[in-house]
Amino acid sequence: MYRTHNCGELRLEHAGNETTLAGWVQRTRELGGMVFVDLRDRYGITQLVFNNEQDADLCDQAKKLGREFVIQAKGEVKERMSKNPKMNTGDIEVIVSEMSVLNAAKTPPFTIENESDGGEDVRMKYRYLDLRRPVVQENIMLRHRVAQESRRYLNEMGFLEIETPFLIRSTPEGARDFVVPSRMNPGQFYALPQSPQTFKQLLMVAGYDRYYQIVRCFRDEDLRADRQPEFTQIDCEMAFVEQEDILNTFEGMMRHLMKYVHGIDVPEVPRMTYAEAMRLYGCDKPDIRFGMTFTELNDVAQNKGFKVFDDAELVVGICAEGCATYSRKQLDALTDFVKRPQIGAKGLVYVKCNEDGSFKSSVDKFFDQDALKTWADKMGAKPGDLLLVISGKTEKARKQLNELRLEMGNQLGLRKKDDYKFLWVVDFPLLEWAEEEERWVARHHPFTSPKVEDFDKMDTAPGEVRANAYDMVLNGTEIGGGSVRIHDRGLQERVFELLGMSEEESVEKFGFLMGAFEYGAPPHAGLAFGFDRMCQLMGGADAIRDFIAFPKNNSGRDVMIDAPSRIDDVQYEELCIQSVIKTEVE
Ligand code: AMO
Repeated sequence: MYRTHNCGELRLEHAGNETTLAGWVQRTRELGGMVFVDLRDRYGITQLVFNNEQDADLCDQAKKLGREFVIQAKGEVKERMSKNPKMNTGDIEVIVSEMSVLNAAKTPPFTIENESDGGEDVRMKYRYLDLRRPVVQENIMLRHRVAQESRRYLNEMGFLEIETPFLIRSTPEGARDFVVPSRMNPGQFYALPQSPQTFKQLLMVAGYDRYYQIVRCFRDEDLRADRQPEFTQIDCEMAFVEQEDILNTFEGMMRHLMKYVHGIDVPEVPRMTYAEAMRLYGCDKPDIRFGMTFTELNDVAQNKGFKVFDDAELVVGICAEGCATYSRKQLDALTDFVKRPQIGAKGLVYVKCNEDGSFKSSVDKFFDQDALKTWADKMGAKPGDLLLVISGKTEKARKQLNELRLEMGNQLGLRKKDDYKFLWVVDFPLLEWAEEEERWVARHHPFTSPKVEDFDKMDTAPGEVRANAYDMVLNGTEIGGGSVRIHDRGLQERVFELLGMSEEESVEKFGFLMGAFEYGAPPHAGLAFGFDRMCQLMGGADAIRDFIAFPKNNSGRDVMIDAPSRIDDVQYEELCIQSVIKTEVE
C-alpha cells in the first residue's frame, strides 16, 4: 500500500498512530537539527519532521529533497507544539521513521503555489504542473461537483443522457465550423458540431421527450476571456412543453446547483424582456447586482441650444450615487474611458448634484440650474450624486453607456464575485440585420420559433418579429440560452426563406430535419448552458480557462502539445488535400 492516509486527512485524533503518506515536496526547511518537509497532494499539506538526533542518515536524505520530488514517508502522528490554525492538518505533524524517494523532479519552471511566480505562457506550456496548484485543483474539483449535481438534478427529473455524434455536417450557431476531411470520401468534409442542436430536435421527434448531454461543442471564432474554441455545454431539450416549463425546470436546476455546490438559496429568478433590458441597461445581459439603470432624457435635454444633444437620436444617463465629489481628474478619466476606440463615444456630459442643492455641470453654458434640476428629478438623483450622460444614435449610445455603467459598478465595488444574481432575458428578436452580408440572420439559430402574435410582421417588418427565445444571465454574463423550436415544416421553410436561403439550399442543408417534421414532430423547446462559463462564475474567476483542465490560448493553440500542427505528407495525400501540400512546399 502506497499510503494509509492522504495529506489533508490527519487530525489530532490520529496522534499516536502510524501513518504512511505519499505526495509531492512543497518545501523543506532546516531548523535546529531538524528538517521540516511540507508534503502536498490534492487533499492538502501535511508537515513531516525529520529529527537529526533520531536518525542522522534519514535527516541527511531529507535535506537533499528538492521541490516537487515524489516521496513516500512512514512515521508517527504527533500533536504539534506550535499549531497552525490556517491548515486543516495544522494540529499535527508526522515524525518520519522511513522515507523513500519515488521519483526525483527537476526544479519546476515556476512555483507550485496559489500565488505562482510563473506567467500565463509558461504555466500553459507546463499545464500539468499548473494543475498541481491548489487553486487550480479547487477549480477542477468545483467543475466536477457542478457536473455531478447537474446530472443528479436532471436524472431525478426524468431526463435521459444521450450522446450525439461529433462527425456531422454544419449546425449553424453563428460561428465558423471546424472541419475534418474524410479519407473515405475524398474531397468531402465533416463539420464538428457547434452544438448538438439538430440531433436533440430529432431525439424529440423520436420520442425521448427529456434529453440532456454534457457535451463538447466546437466553434471557430475569435477568442475572448469567456470563450474557447472547444467548450462544454449542458445541452437539454424537452417535448410537450412551453417556454414557461423550460424556464421553471432550468431555474430549478440553477437553484439546485447553487444550493448543493455553494449552500446558497437562490430566490425566484426575475425576468426581463429584451426590449426592457436594452432600454434600462443598454445590453441584453444586464448585470443586476447593482442599479444605476438608464434614464432617457430627450424630453428635458433637447431643444435648449446644445447642438450635440439636439442632433442626437437618444440622450441617456445614469446616476452614480455619492459620486458628486469626483475630482476633475476622475471625471477626465471617465471621459477618456468612453472615448477609447473600443467604446467610441464622442464625449461625456456630467452633472454634479452638490450637497447644497446646486448643480455644476460640463454644459452649464446651455443648461441653467432649473434645467439641470429637471434632469436630476427625472433620474431620481439626490444631493451628492453624479449624473453621467451620453448621446448619439440609440444603439450606440446605449452600448457606450452600458460600458460606463459597468465601469462605475467596478469602481464603486458593486460587482462582488460572491453575490450571485440570476436573470432571465426573454422575447429576443427573431432576426438581426447583418451589415456586411446585407441580409437577415437568425439571432439565436434558425430553428427558433417566432411568437405567434408577431407572425404577420414576418413579411412587413421582419426586424420587429420577436422569438420565443430566452437567455439565462448570471452577473452580467450569458450562461445559457435556448428557445421554443419550430416543429412545422411550412414555418421552418418560411424562416429559411427570410434568412435568404433558397429552397434548394435549405433542402440540401436541412432536408433531414424538415423531413422529420413530417413524421409526427411534437412541440418541443430547450436550452443549453455554457458549462465552463457557469463554473467560472460560480468559482468567481475572470476566465473560463481556469476551469478547463487543458485549455487553448488566445490564438486557439494548445501550447503544451503544440497543436494545431502540420500533418505528414502521406496524410495530406490520403486526404486528397493536394493544394496544401503544394503551398507548404513552395
Ligand atoms: P448558444 O449558442 O447560445 O446556444 O450557446 C449556449 C451557451 O454556451 C456558451 N457558449 C460558450 N462558452 C464558451 N466558449 C464559447 N465559444 C461559447 N459559445 C457559447 C454560452 C451560451 O449561453 N443550441 C443552442 C442552445 C439551444 O437553443 O438549446 C446553443 O448552442 O454560455
